[in-house]
Amino acid sequence: MKSIEVLLLSQQDIISLNLDPQTVLGAVEQAMLEHSNGSYEMHPKIGVHPTGTDPDNFIHAMPAYLKQLGACGLKWVGGFAKNPKRDLPNITGIQVCNDVDTGVPLAIMDCAYLTGLRTAAVSAVIAQRCALPDSSVLALCGCGFQGGMHLRFLLHALRGIRTVRFYDVRPGAAAALAERARNEGVYSGECLVCTSAEECIRDADVISTCTNGDEQIIRKEWFKPGAFGVGIEGGCAYTSGALHQADKFIVDDVPLAEYFQKISIGRKNDRGEDNTEFPGGIPPVYSTIGDIVAGKKAPRHSREERIIAIPIGMAICDISLGHTVLERAKQQGVGHRFTLS
Ligand SMILES: NC(=O)c1ccc[n+]([C@@H]2O[C@H](COP(=O)([O-])OP(=O)(O)OC[C@H]3O[C@@H](n4cnc5c(N)ncnc54)[C@H](O)[C@@H]3O)[C@@H](O)[C@H]2O)c1
Repeated sequence: MKSIEVLLLSQQDIISLNLDPQTVLGAVEQAMLEHSNGSYEMHPKIGVHPTGTDPDNFIHAMPAYLKQLGACGLKWVGGFAKNPKRDLPNITGIQVCNDVDTGVPLAIMDCAYLTGLRTAAVSAVIAQRCALPDSSVLALCGCGFQGGMHLRFLLHALRGIRTVRFYDVRPGAAAALAERARNEGVYSGECLVCTSAEECIRDADVISTCTNGDEQIIRKEWFKPGAFGVGIEGGCAYTSGALHQADKFIVDDVPLAEYFQKISIGRKNDRGEDNTEFPGGIPPVYSTIGDIVAGKKAPRHSREERIIAIPIGMAICDISLGHTVLERAKQQGVGHRFTLS
């Protein structure tokens, strides 16, 4: 028998590949196109919920296969929102890439940084198409790991942004992200560090929420005509009124959205408030992100439409990006090989 060699890629290995935003967007767009064409296999995330410290803790299994790309694998990812208080990341996990012909594992890689790249890239892909082209004010609500990633990718996708408003409930987090963006050359325009969600969000052109999703923040009257909002917390950052006034409502995958809505019914936050995904139910879905990327649905019909996208997070995007990472790592000789058998 031949021996089976597996490539191990740490987070630092992946960072060292220095993937440019366009490469990451390309990997995500490939997954979106395959989603639209139906050339994939993916299931609503199954998981376990070790609720020791927080009822919202999860570890999800996310297998996927992209037929055209010829990539398959599994992401095994945990979300423990109280981890930052223990000096640990909220999102942690590993991703396995398998060979599509033999099923043999090819690589095992950190999936936390990868999740940051793919989630921000998905938001950027849909923002690029649905935000008004002259959008200049970006509201960034939630300035943790995803907030930083979203800043980078949304600025790449929306070249007209001149003002970024930062807000976070954690003292100092918004100012720290604004300062980091400036120091690292990510953004040199106007930065406004806000002291309330309203100051951040009201009348912004583009609203990106990357919070822990345990508070319905966005009020109907703050979301102006023509604005575009993208939220990665299953719609939990929106009040029912704000969510349901959308003229166009977009998700990444309808079965995924329905599954998450269903399992969240009755969920409460620490303050005993309703914490259901998609407050008030899932609004009528205008399109998937994939159908917009594939050109089957127009992203926007007028300057006045309010558009909201809620990507739940598709495994096909992770596996597509993992495939790109693996190819780059092989080319650049990055990572460590070990013999599995
Ligand atoms: N949809 C997807 O594909 C996807 C993928 C990964 C993560 N997520 C979700 O994204 C969210 C953020 O993940 P992360 O890794 O950045 O976590 P993180 O803990 O690094 O950051 C979350 C930030 O939100 C802030 N926050 C919490 N409540 C807030 C509020 N009401 N207003 C303003 N700020 C608030 C926190 O203080 C923190 O800085 C989590 O809910 C996670 O489950 C979604």
